[in-house]
Amino acid sequence: MKSLVIDGLEDYCRAHTSPLPELYERLREQTYAEVAAPQMQVGHLEGRLLKLLAQLAGARLAVEVGTFTGYSALSIAEGLAPDGHLHTFDIDPVATGIARRYWDEADWARDRITLHLGDARAELAAFVARIDRPVDLAFIDADKSGYIDYWETLVPAMRPGGLIVVDNVLWSGRVLTPADPNDHHIVAFNRHAAADARVEQVMLTVRDGLMIARRRE
Ligand SMILES: C[S@@+](CC[C@H](N)C(=O)[O-])C[C@H]1O[C@@H](n2cnc3c(N)ncnc32)[C@H](O)[C@@H]1O
Repeated sequence: MKSLVIDGLEDYCRAHTSPLPELYERLREQTYAEVAAPQMQVGHLEGRLLKLLAQLAGARLAVEVGTFTGYSALSIAEGLAPDGHLHTFDIDPVATGIARRYWDEADWARDRITLHLGDARAELAAFVARIDRPVDLAFIDADKSGYIDYWETLVPAMRPGGLIVVDNVLWSGRVLTPADPNDHHIVAFNRHAAADARVEQVMLTVRDGLMIARRRE
């Protein structure tokens, strides 16, 4: 992933952001040692932002699409309300096997994260159909071809004032000159979300680009 900020600034931002429990560093090291495409992990800055957003949203019900080795789920779980719970969706049993081990270690995550293993297109829709309260915080970070589907499933399920956070919306800058199918999926998603009157949103140059949308009242 190409950095969107000039050399050194990312380190500077990390140095001026709240530190992490040591568990995250071990999870980062294991992910980089054992798993393909480890750069998919959100990392320190975006992880702290997700925790903060979960806190600001007073999240009692949070949803994540794209668990991987569990870093972002751990971060969201840290910011949940005391009776909050995170439901996270992924198709990969190997990466999520690592995630489960770290969640079990963390007091704030153990028993507060439910993993739904399978294709999120079907699993997420089935989950939303059976919940009995609205979603306070959602994080979309899975296959780019599914972004519009995940968005369309989640927006009606959100509490008015609830937040949807979407990762990789700048796609290493390739949104400016889209060439391959994933480039076009991201461009189509960004256009779709920007035209959605049910939300107000801001697109930020954090890491690989982040959209934060708030469901209107
Ligand atoms: C960018 S990674 C998620 C990174 C994670 N949020 C983190 O911070 O560690 C994307 C994840 O989406 C998952 N994924 C891809 N297609 C999927 C699908 N159709 N259903 C569910 N998960 C999918 C992949 O297995 C991968 O773990």
